[in-house]
Amino acid sequence: METILLSDNEAQLEIAAGFIKSGEIVGIPTETVYGLGADASNEEAVRKVFAAKGRPADNPLIVHLADFSHACKYTSSIPELAYRLAERFCPGPLTMVLPKNEQIPMITSGGLDTVGIRVPSHPVMHRIIELSGCPIAAPSANTSGYPSPTSADHVMRDMNGKIAAVVDGGQSEFGVESTVISFEGENTVRILRPGCITREMLLEVCDEVVIDHAILHELEAGQKAASPGMKYKHYSPKADIIMVEGDADAFRRYVGDKMSADTYCLIYDGDERNFPYRHMTYGEDSSEQAHWLFQRLRELDDIGAKKVYVRAPSSEGVGLAVYNRLIRAAGFEVIRI
Ligand code: TXA
Ligand code: MG
Repeated sequence: METILLSDNEAQLEIAAGFIKSGEIVGIPTETVYGLGADASNEEAVRKVFAAKGRPADNPLIVHLADFSHACKYTSSIPELAYRLAERFCPGPLTMVLPKNEQIPMITSGGLDTVGIRVPSHPVMHRIIELSGCPIAAPSANTSGYPSPTSADHVMRDMNGKIAAVVDGGQSEFGVESTVISFEGENTVRILRPGCITREMLLEVCDEVVIDHAILHELEAGQKAASPGMKYKHYSPKADIIMVEGDADAFRRYVGDKMSADTYCLIYDGDERNFPYRHMTYGEDSSEQAHWLFQRLRELDDIGAKKVYVRAPSSEGVGLAVYNRLIRAAGFEVIRI
């Protein structure tokens, strides 16, 4: 199959929407990362998404809608708290796990009786949902296990020849995937995957926000995952990622005797003054680090890095999302200095 690259003008978005309507798969920009979009109600189309990514069948897809008011078409009940969260955060990078109804096939929900609903704010994704008239199932458009794509070029590299088209909508704004939450009791939510809608932001609407243990810790053998995605190795470039927690000076001293020809460091912007070793930077604060992380992990593979020492991000606010992606890429090992 030839994968065509579309731009984001109306005529090209109509082509993209046409592919979705006819059961084909399209790489689509969103404000978080690029998604691999298919008609969520078309089992054949959804099967193609799992095949293109090499994704385990029990890992559910998020369903993207043009407006939260459409969520009632695909769910069996919606708590009042979900409406209040939608009012504050939709459209935007928030996914709410709700009980699904029969409009969502089991293959889309990975066999679960729930569905993750998200209303993306990216105008291109929004327009494609409108033009197709479909609920769009879209996982991140990377090969399963690899860092999520934040540009059309990343999607092309992973998916060329496997999907109908990729729409180029520029660089993703947030750079990490949406915050995924589930509901517990009247005014409590649980964060299953941290993102740019932070715990602090959710607390503006909820009484309590629980951070699932698996966000920072490896699941133990036999332990049940609150979200199937927690079970799988994720976000990993080919290079070995080693997370090192400490200030810039301590980090520099630590890596000093560990550098070799194909070893690199990923440090903060600002750390590079007096930093004598081969490195890239991934931003100064948590939002910048979220924006650049996946791009940098892909670049490090491109230049042939075999081992990468990463100066660990803060785990506060948006930093929790960055920390979560990196600790999974690092196989949950953190060196504290
Ligand atoms: O920002 C995003 O969420 C991007 C863009 C494309 O929208 N999508 C995305 O999808 O990251 P994906 O499939 O790569 O990650 C979805 C995560 C997985 O870890 C999955 O296990 C979890 O959300 N998830 C989806 N539906 C769920 C459900 N019903 N219950 C629990 N976890 C769910
Ligand atoms: Mg993903």
